[in-house]
Amino acid sequence: MPGFELFGAQERKEVNDVLETGILMRYGFDGARKGMWKAKELEQEICKRFGTQYTQLVSSGTAALSTAMAALGIGAGDEVIMPTFTFVASFEAVLSVGAIPVLTDIDDTLTLDPKAVEAAITPRTKAIMPVHMCGSMAQMDELKAICDAHKLLLLEDACQTISANYKGKSVGTIGDAGTFSFDFVKIITCAEGGAIITNNKETYEKCDQYSDHGHDHAGKDRGADLHPYLGYNYRISELHAAVGLAQVRRIDEFLELQLRNHSILKRTLEKVDGLTFRRIPDPAGDAGSFLSFMLPTEDMAREAVKGFEAAGLGGNFYYYDNNWHYIRKWQHLQNGSWMNRLYDDQKKQVMHYANQAFPASDAIISRNISTLISLVWTEEQAQERADKMAEVLKKVIKGALV
Ligand SMILES: Cc1ncc(COP(=O)(O)O)c(C=O)c1O
Repeated sequence: MPGFELFGAQERKEVNDVLETGILMRYGFDGARKGMWKAKELEQEICKRFGTQYTQLVSSGTAALSTAMAALGIGAGDEVIMPTFTFVASFEAVLSVGAIPVLTDIDDTLTLDPKAVEAAITPRTKAIMPVHMCGSMAQMDELKAICDAHKLLLLEDACQTISANYKGKSVGTIGDAGTFSFDFVKIITCAEGGAIITNNKETYEKCDQYSDHGHDHAGKDRGADLHPYLGYNYRISELHAAVGLAQVRRIDEFLELQLRNHSILKRTLEKVDGLTFRRIPDPAGDAGSFLSFMLPTEDMAREAVKGFEAAGLGGNFYYYDNNWHYIRKWQHLQNGSWMNRLYDDQKKQVMHYANQAFPASDAIISRNISTLISLVWTEEQAQERADKMAEVLKKVIKGALV
């Protein structure tokens, strides 16, 4: 997820524009800012590039999720169905609005299994939150049909899969709202930042207000703004937005390199007998920031990780052991270790869902390795890496490395 790998003159130019004016805040100071509105410009660029009517920038992807949930009216005691494989931010955001994260199995797409989602619905379910993980997408037709049938909200966490498409639509634009992250290791970055995208005007307006202390932003005098709702400060700064603006304009350049290197790896690893790949619901829409594959057994996956390390090949994620991305290691969630006390009822429910067994997810994640695709590899370097990986994998699968 490497926007930071290609960082240069365009980013510096946009930041310098802001520094020239000295106005680092995205709202107000109309005269002093000399026509520089980087956050507004970035919002317009995102709408155009990703095909959404409204974009609200915020300070992070996590803030985008919390803001989107508040704007959609998700709150106390509501259940939000989310996958066992994501990043901790997804459940943090659910808890931040007083709702209950209902951890639910994934399938070989590495995203929510629609059958498991159906089984997880209760009278308290308010929303389904698919997470488009590692550059590819969730099964949106199936999930949308479930939401329609049960009158549930669909909130897409597209924080780490900016620019993947599903049947011609950008991920994040299919549900009631979607979120992006522009943190330092995302496909495009602005150091720290995020966005909520939606086609619903009311949802957008609520996001705009919630992320700035409830200000209605109706006039030019910030001091005279009304506050229709309570809100918080999740604003992005002009400096961050300036970097994001340069990066979003370079997204085709990034994608071309990413997809080229991804296909070199895929073509080579496809020849390894016994290796299977993550199922991609719309292969043409894969953003290609990772290549995810499965070994036949957990032991073999562990051996492959060791083999890659021994061969000097970094960037291979074995999420089964990872503290950030998979339920197995979210001990703070499973133990109910919160600094602020939750209501007893909420705590009981949260711990109930977090402490279920997830054999179906384990069976996939324990065999999966996701390898990061870099933009700075030349074609030759990508091929060399692919050959070395294939060699390790063949040995492991034949039992020669164990
Ligand atoms: C799936 C997912 N959701 C949300 C986030 C949160 O984004 P941020 O780091 O900008 O808060 C991330 C960040 O890695 C993520 O991967």
